[in-house]
Amino acid sequence: MRTEHRLEAVGPAERVLDRAATAVAHPNIALIKYWGKRDERLMIPYVDSLSMTLDIFPTTTTVRLCPDAAADSVTLDGAPARGEVGQRVVAFLDLVRQLAGRTEPATVDTRNAVPTGAGLASSASGFAALALAAAAAYGLDLDPTALSRLARRGSVSAARSIFGDFAICHAGGGTGAEADLASYAEPVPVPDFDPALVIAVVNAGPKAVSSRGGMRRTVETSPLYAAWATSSKADLTEMRAALARSDLDAVGEIAERNALGMHATMLAARPAVRYMSPPTVAVLDAVLRLRADGVPAYATMDAGPNVKVLCHPADAERVAATLGAAAPGSSVVTARRGPAARLWTEAER
Ligand code: DP6
Repeated sequence: MRTEHRLEAVGPAERVLDRAATAVAHPNIALIKYWGKRDERLMIPYVDSLSMTLDIFPTTTTVRLCPDAAADSVTLDGAPARGEVGQRVVAFLDLVRQLAGRTEPATVDTRNAVPTGAGLASSASGFAALALAAAAAYGLDLDPTALSRLARRGSVSAARSIFGDFAICHAGGGTGAEADLASYAEPVPVPDFDPALVIAVVNAGPKAVSSRGGMRRTVETSPLYAAWATSSKADLTEMRAALARSDLDAVGEIAERNALGMHATMLAARPAVRYMSPPTVAVLDAVLRLRADGVPAYATMDAGPNVKVLCHPADAERVAATLGAAAPGSSVVTARRGPAARLWTEAER
């Protein structure tokens, strides 16, 4: 654990002058999607979600307490974090300080291994790394379940990135503190299932509608939302059984229909929330062609135009070439299941 202490006597009391922790977390892609909050303040999702943590594009975050600073300072890839990103980080630090009973400001330095502008920078890896580093720096002793609850307060999908491989985030029930306790992530052990996820980045630009705004509008105005949330429950049950059998075709079919259903609820919002663009549809067509040619490949999409395609590792090269040809100008990267969030070791400091 990277926790540095330098104590200095200040009168009778001791004061922590330099205390820091660095954490690394990886993004995850949901096979059963989260979309919609029933409590925005506590960040409680309406539906359970299930994801695969990836082995690419980690986020590395250092939180250092600065007792003498006037305020928090947040940098993202070396530049000051502006606007909403900085505000969300400071609000998250406020929560950690409240839980830890501390008041010192901190500096937060976040670095994303994702190539700049690739459109894949993830709030999931970001808030998972921040939760782990901030908890350690402020001296909160949390087990992985409690860490996932904390990460959820930054971004619901971040709860799942606390864990490696496959993880479920429970929507839970109740209200207030009870709801907060009941919504957390945990691993879904699937030792023998190790698919490839081929990601077609068709547009690296920032999205027009944030996932936060898009899901709020969907919940408030889409007549299809309730139906999707109900069908998602059945999808989750079937998904767990398919994972237990390491059945790529079933996992892929369920993931694809769950994602397309989520996008259908968005399209029915008023006004419509649409993340798909013409290259997205071209890639989805290519996935259908691959299947027609006997290559098991299944698509999922999040709050953006990029497409993630689940397939057997042995087919990943062919799938990547096909997706790249379908959307000229796109970039394609292949991921596998990845590790849990962790603090830096002594050797890495
Ligand atoms: C479509 O977790 O980014 O990727 O909780 O508001 O921070 P906030 O949203 P976020 O939404 C992710 C939505 C999704 C599906 C998923 O990852 O489950």
